[in-house]
This record gives sequence, C-alpha cells and structure tokens, in this order.
Amino acid sequence: MVCLVTGSSRGLGKAIALAFGKTGHKVVIHYKDKSREAEDVASQIKESIILKADVRNFKEVKTLIDEIIKKWGRIDTLVNNAGITQEALLLKTSEEDFNNVIATNLKGPFNFIRSAALHMMKQKSGHIINIASIAGIKGKAGLSAYSASKAGLIGLTISTAAELSRYNIMVNAILPGYMLTDMGKNSSNEAKEKALKESLVKNFSNPDNVAEFICYLSETSGITGQVFNLDSRVV
Ligand SMILES: NC(=O)c1ccc[n+]([C@@H]2O[C@H](COP(=O)([O-])OP(=O)(O)OC[C@H]3O[C@@H](n4cnc5c(N)ncnc54)[C@H](OP(=O)(O)O)[C@@H]3O)[C@@H](O)[C@H]2O)c1
Repeated sequence: MVCLVTGSSRGLGKAIALAFGKTGHKVVIHYKDKSREAEDVASQIKESIILKADVRNFKEVKTLIDEIIKKWGRIDTLVNNAGITQEALLLKTSEEDFNNVIATNLKGPFNFIRSAALHMMKQKSGHIINIASIAGIKGKAGLSAYSASKAGLIGLTISTAAELSRYNIMVNAILPGYMLTDMGKNSSNEAKEKALKESLVKNFSNPDNVAEFICYLSETSGITGQVFNLDSRVV
C-alpha cells in the first residue's frame, strides 16, 4: 500500500508519515524547503521516497504524482497536510498574503487531488484525507485568510467525496486541534493561551494521536464526505 503525505518533513505530516511507515506502508515524504528534515523522516521508514514540490504549483505537483506512479504504480492514500498560517487582522492582511494562504492551503490540496484522483479512479479505490482546522468552521479574529482556506478545504472535501464515491474513493477532512508543531509554537502567545483555555481537557493536541486516527480512517470502507473533529474545543 502506498501513502503520500504532503508536508511530511515536520510537524503533523511527519507524525502521519511515521505512523503509516509503522503499519508497513510505502510512504512518500514530501517537502518544499526542509530537505534534511525530510531525509530524517525517511530514514525511520522501511520503504520511502522523498519528493519535493511546491503545493501551489500545479505542474510540480503533477510531476510528483507521475513519479510515484512510475515507481510504485499506485497511490492508496493521499493526506493533504501541507499548510501555512497567517495571523493578522483583516485590515492588516495584504492581498499577497491572502493569496498565498489560499494557494497553499486550498489550491494545494486541489492540485494533489486533481492529479492523484485519476490514478485512484483506475484502481477503483483510494482514500483522500484533508487536514482542515476548527478555524474553518468557527471563525477567529486575526485568522480570516486561514479560516477561509480551511472552510474552503471542507467544501472541497464534501464535493469531491460526492463525485468520487462511485469509484470507491473516500474523501474526508480532519480537524486536528491545536498542536505544538512549528506552526503552533510560532503562533502568538495569546493564541496558545486561548486554545488551552478553550480546551475541555486543558491540553494541546498530540500529533501522534491524530496520526493514529488517520491511519485507522485509511483502513475503513464506506465512510466518506465527513469532517472529523479531533479538537477538544467545543464548536
Ligand atoms: N499546528 C496546529 O495547531 C494546527 C491546528 C489545526 C490544523 N493544522 C493544520 O495541520 C497541517 C500541518 O500543520 P503543522 O502544524 O504540522 O505545520 P508545520 O509544522 O509548519 O509544517 C508545515 C509543513 O507544510 C509544508 N509546506 C508549507 N508550505 C508548503 C508549500 N508551499 N509547498 C509544499 N510544502 C509546504 C512544510 O514543508 P517544509 O518543511 O519543506 O517547509 C512542512 O512540511 C496544516 O495544514 C495546518 O493548517 C495545524
């Protein structure tokens, strides 16, 4: 079984790649800049390849998918995890920053789904798991671009699920909760304190637990078009 995890050089993506590696999957480690970190992840997995692409670039993503098919002939699970955040009030968000967040967090997953789905359709099987955020269903001051991108990703998930179910391709979204990855650590202290305060368990989310859930979901059949909230903040 072949699993592709976008943005698996660090953070949640790394945890997901390692979890799939443990279950015996062949894993594609994908990154944009951090090649050393990607190599470190690959070194911990029995069978893996490392591929670089900017998720915003349709052609680079298609080339990456073609390389996987050339090497392993199939893609069983695609996890659209790569993402960025942008903390700024709306009136301080530049057009460039807004476009960049949407291009990374929303068009990125579209680019991957657009190229990978064709191969999954031929296989008549596949799982696509999109990493969204509670911010996509519960807006937050200072996160308009990020919230919009993740709300869009939820819409993309549901519509894609409706189109691809006839090919036995399951498409779901995950809301992982606040994690102290680079993204979580680098957010403002105010954001961290608020997340902790709103958490019913008074703790941050653990990427390994999220990864375990994603591995489990990839082994189910007949569950599609759903948004799984693993965030202990109440919506
Ligand atoms: N952390 C949280 O609290 C939290 C909460 C809810 C949802 N999420 C979501 O969970 C996902 C993972 O977040 P994280 O916290 O693990 O983030 P992270 O630690 O900042 O890691 C981001 C990953 O995305 C890759 N990436 C970013 N922009 C890219 C681009 N243009 N092209 C290709 N790869 C790109 C990075 O690659 P390089 O290493 O090469 O730069 C890295 O592997 C994101 O979608 C995020 O929105 C996170």
